[in-house]
Amino acid sequence: MQERPSKIKTLGLLEIRPYLKLLNSNLLEFVCEIQKDHGDFTHLKIPFFNLMVVSDPEWVELLMTSLHSNLQKPDFLKKTAKTYGSSGPFIDDGDKWKEGRAFFSSLFHKQTFDRYMGIREAIIFKIDQMILENPKQKPVHFFSSLTLDLIFNYGYQFTSTEFDEDIIELFFEVHDHFLKDLKSPFRLPQWILTPHNLRAKKNNARFQKNIDKAIKQIKKIRPESSLRDELTTIFVAGMEATSAMLSWCLYGLLENPEVKDLLLESIEKDSEKVSSSKIQAFMDEVTRLYPPGYIFNRQVNTEFSHENIKFPKKTQLFMVPYLVHRNPSIFKDPLTFKWDRFLNWSSKAHMPYGAGARHCPGAQFARLIGTLCLKHILVNYNFKNVSTETVKPSPFLSLSPGFNFECAFEQKNA
Ligand code: HEM
Repeated sequence: MQERPSKIKTLGLLEIRPYLKLLNSNLLEFVCEIQKDHGDFTHLKIPFFNLMVVSDPEWVELLMTSLHSNLQKPDFLKKTAKTYGSSGPFIDDGDKWKEGRAFFSSLFHKQTFDRYMGIREAIIFKIDQMILENPKQKPVHFFSSLTLDLIFNYGYQFTSTEFDEDIIELFFEVHDHFLKDLKSPFRLPQWILTPHNLRAKKNNARFQKNIDKAIKQIKKIRPESSLRDELTTIFVAGMEATSAMLSWCLYGLLENPEVKDLLLESIEKDSEKVSSSKIQAFMDEVTRLYPPGYIFNRQVNTEFSHENIKFPKKTQLFMVPYLVHRNPSIFKDPLTFKWDRFLNWSSKAHMPYGAGARHCPGAQFARLIGTLCLKHILVNYNFKNVSTETVKPSPFLSLSPGFNFECAFEQKNA
């Protein structure tokens, strides 16, 4: 294993200038360029904004676990989320985070989780129905719809078809405004009526109206003051990440047809358990190369030092699992897709679901739906890539193959 850097590279404004445009336009390219040019731990001294880009595996793990109490979610994220009328455990800190987190952990608690075992039929029904309606699908949209339906149905007995509009399209529109606001260093308050602000307000109002409708229904069975935050968190932290992971899985199968055949053969031949572990290993390799949560954002609470490295108060930390997962000292031939890399091996540096106290409470659920979906699709459908434009990683809030990625499905025994 390589040495943990105890000295970090510090960049002044002149050295940072070439990267600033990327910071606003493509966060993934920004962190990759910084790492390529300056290594795994870089401190960027931007006026009014201290930023550390960390992709050293051991430092990321330390910061996410034993040094975690020195950190919180960033103010800029909280502020932007607030203008869109929501927070939730993905964004909160302190007691509010604990409360929200307790709910999400219970949503996927062992006893509750057993209920999900009936989910297989729901998945099969929904996949078949969607493909029958339209054999050509954008996987990001397709899996968003599926995931949302499952979580709403099982968590709240509410079906997403009860929304008034295409809630997924609406969500991604709001999400687009949200990201633009997050990236803009000179954000104008929402009450200033720029064309962007007007559209953002209008779309968010439509989105919130749909959430109101769900709250009205759900309140009948579960009175709860923080429903709005919970429901929004499901969109942001649950639906989008799961859909990104499953879309990358389809992409991985299409790019590696031999793996597709091999997995299919093992499903048809082996017991349930064996084929599941193979599919799970495949999903782990997919999330290694394309982790939906590609950057963990944190902010330093109060100044602290560790191993001679000083972390000034309010420093923004961009910890980059996307790069950690491509570190050759841990992952041999990191750019090669090896579907069975994780079949009998694991590493703490593989962290697609985060680490420490804030690790993802929905991880097991996502892995369960992932396995069931992939099995059903592999056994019952032929599918091919019919994208008219190049598919490349799209760094939204989650990293997905984006809406350029399109697949055509055909039922095998039709
Ligand atoms: C493949 C699917 C998923 C992936 C890759 C994923 C990934 C992650 C990651 C990396 C984090 C940590 C973020 C950080 O430390 O800043 C996280 C947190 C979280 N995830 Fe997931 N997630 C997935 C599915 C889900 C689902 C299905 C739900 C529930 C509906 C969910 C709910 C949450 C919540 C509430 C948090 C915040 C936890 C906290 O801060 O305490 N996730 N997820």
